[in-house]
Amino acid sequence: MRKSLVAGNWKMNGSSASIEELVAGILAGAGSSPADVLVCPPHVYLAQVAAALSGSNVKLGAQDVSVEASGAFTGDVSASMLKEMGCSYVLVGHSERRAIHGESSALVAQKFVAAQNEGLISVLCVGETLEEREAGNTVAVVSEQFEAVLDLAGIDAMKKAVLAYEPVWAIGTGKTASAEQAQEVHAQLRAVAAARSVEVAGGMQILYGGSVKPSNAAELFAMADIDGGLIGGASLQAEDFLGICAAG
Ligand code: 13P
Repeated sequence: MRKSLVAGNWKMNGSSASIEELVAGILAGAGSSPADVLVCPPHVYLAQVAAALSGSNVKLGAQDVSVEASGAFTGDVSASMLKEMGCSYVLVGHSERRAIHGESSALVAQKFVAAQNEGLISVLCVGETLEEREAGNTVAVVSEQFEAVLDLAGIDAMKKAVLAYEPVWAIGTGKTASAEQAQEVHAQLRAVAAARSVEVAGGMQILYGGSVKPSNAAELFAMADIDGGLIGGASLQAEDFLGICAAG
């Protein structure tokens, strides 16, 4: 039985004061969450959030990582720095990084490996645009994104990593994939992994992301291959986020 995970991706939102309040709100209810709980604040607030989470079961992750270990890479943050700040997880390949920062599947795969080399658990994000879905290319797109990582890191790497299916057209739009649409892609992604190892595929957590709210989380999380969620907007309100965790 796979344990579910609910992760909050705060993106570039918040201030020191609002984040203090958000974390306090999450901590007040996270103890009763059936799902594991993860929060991913902006890099600059990692130390603050790590201190606030200390002694709790809520896990800390970052939103991005450099492929490099150290050196002249202005503005970048390495996996060892994230580790030192208390992160155990990191998002890699979020569609906003792929689209806005031009990250290729090859670069995302290198980031995944850099994170893994430091013992961080990557949450590898994959997802198709509306145009790709309408052209019937959903499975081809998400498989290419996933296989780029499997080719570089190997299937065993997924024993210590998480996959997140986030259809781009559902992110921040209020348009959630139906539970059936999401399940179909999750099952395909698990099949991609199963072609390399049935055992690893069976244990791999696959999160759904894209306009998840307390009102639709239970239906999504009830699907056979959906093991929790990656939450954007609704993770910025403790009450909404905890409502989603409760469905986990
Ligand atoms: P929303 O929940 O705001 O649609 O964002 C999803 C997401 O991108 C999480 O990484």
